[in-house]
Amino acid sequence: MQLKIGRDMIKKEPILIVGSGGREHALGWKLKQSPKVGTIYFAPGNGGTANIGTNLPIKANDVLALTKFAIKQKIRLTIVGPEAPLVAGIVDYFRQKNLAIFGPTKKAAKLESSKSWALQFMKRHHLPHPEFKVFGDTKLAKKFIQDSQWSEFVIKADGLALGKGVLIANSKKEALQAIEEMTGFGEAGKTFIIQEKLQGYEVSVVAFTDGKIIVPLLPAQDHKRIFDGDRGPNTGGMGAYAPVPTVDKKLTTLIQKNILQPFLQGIIKDKLDYRGVIYPGLMITKDGPKVLEFNVRFGDPETQPQMMLLQSDLFEIVNACIRGKLRNNHVQFKKGAAACVVLAAEGYPGSYKKGEIIHGLDTKQNKNIQIFHACTTVDKGRITSSGGRVLGVTGYGTNIKQALKTTYAAIGKQGVYFSQMQYRRDIGQKALI
Ligand code: AMP
Ligand code: GLY
Repeated sequence: MQLKIGRDMIKKEPILIVGSGGREHALGWKLKQSPKVGTIYFAPGNGGTANIGTNLPIKANDVLALTKFAIKQKIRLTIVGPEAPLVAGIVDYFRQKNLAIFGPTKKAAKLESSKSWALQFMKRHHLPHPEFKVFGDTKLAKKFIQDSQWSEFVIKADGLALGKGVLIANSKKEALQAIEEMTGFGEAGKTFIIQEKLQGYEVSVVAFTDGKIIVPLLPAQDHKRIFDGDRGPNTGGMGAYAPVPTVDKKLTTLIQKNILQPFLQGIIKDKLDYRGVIYPGLMITKDGPKVLEFNVRFGDPETQPQMMLLQSDLFEIVNACIRGKLRNNHVQFKKGAAACVVLAAEGYPGSYKKGEIIHGLDTKQNKNIQIFHACTTVDKGRITSSGGRVLGVTGYGTNIKQALKTTYAAIGKQGVYFSQMQYRRDIGQKALI
C-alpha cells in the first residue's frame, strides 16, 4: 500500500508514541532530537514523558481511540511500544486509514503472541532454536517427559501470559508439576510447548527492517531477576547495558548469517508485512546463537541504553523502514557504552507501595545521564511513583566501566532516589569480566 508520506517532511511533524514505560520515554527522548519531530503525543505516557511531550488519556490497547486521535491530529508517524496493541492489529487499523505506523501487522505479530507459531516459523526458515514439541493435552505431555532423554526442560504457555508463562524445570518431577501449572494460564496455556533447556548466556538483538533489509542496533543484555547475582523471581527487567563485549565481530557475523538473514528471508517468503523492529531473544550456546523467543517490538529496558548509543536520527530510520527505504548506513552508533539501572519499589515484583515522592529529578544532571521514567505520575506538581519499576537511570561512558560508574553515581541521596527503593548493584558486571 502506498503511504502518504511526501516531500513535505522537512517541517516539524506531530508524532504519537503508544505506551507508558521507560522504553517509550527513551524513544521519545531520542525522537525529540530530530529536527523533523514536532509535538510528541504519548498514549498514555508517564510523569517523564509529560516533560517532553503531551500525555493523552488513551490506553495503549485502545486501538480505536488511537486511530481516531491520529486521524484528528493528523499524526504523521506512530510508534508502538508494547506488544498488546500490535497483537490486537493496530498496524492494520492504521494502514487501512492511510496512517503511517511503525510495526508488524497482526499476522506478523503472531511471532510474539504465539510461541508455537514462532517456532514453526524458525523451523520452516532454518533459524537455530531449541528442540521442541507442542502439546494440547497434558496426558501426552506427561508421557513425553517420562520417556524423554532430557533431564531438564522448559515448559512454555503458547499464548501471551504477561511474561509469566515460561517455567524452567530442572528434573522430570519439576517438569510434570509445570505441566499441571499450565492450566493456571487459562487460554494462553491451553496449548503449551516442551523444549530442551539450553545452556549459555542471553543477548537481546533488536533489528530494524523495512521488509527488504535488516539492520541491528547494538546488542544488549537484560537482567531479568530481581536480586544481584541473578537470584530471586523474574521481573520485567532490572537493568541493561550495551554493547555486549562477548558479541565480537565473529559472533555478530554469525547472528546476521544464521538469525537475521533467515528471519528476513522468512518474512519475505511468508509474505508477512513487517516494517518495524524484530527482537529475537538469543541464547549464545557452544553451538552458536539460538532463538529463545521473538519479540515484535523494542525491549525494555534494553531500549534505554540502545537509544543513548544511537547516533543517527531515529525519525529518519523509522520513516525509511515504513517506506521500504532502509539502508545500512542509516543506523550509526556513538562509540562507548551505556547502562540502565532500574529503580524499583521495595517488594516488586510482589506487592509494593505507590505514591512515593521522587527526589533529585530537578537537579541539573550530568549530560551523560538520562533518567527515563517508567511508572511515575505527576501528582499536585510533584513526580511520584505509580508502579513497580519506577525509573531507569541511564548513563553513557567511553567504555562500560565508565558508563556504570556514571550511572551508579547518579543514584541515591546525591542524585535521584525515593523512599524504599530497590535496585541491583551488579548491572553490567558480566561485561567487566
Ligand atoms: P522466553 O519468554 O521464551 O524468552 O523465556 C523467558 C526466559 O526463560 C528466557 O529469557 C530464558 O532465560 C529462559 N528460557 C526460555 N527458553 C529457554 C530454553 N529453551 N533454554 C533455557 N532457558 C530458556
Ligand atoms: N527486556 C525484555 C523484554 O523487553 O521483553
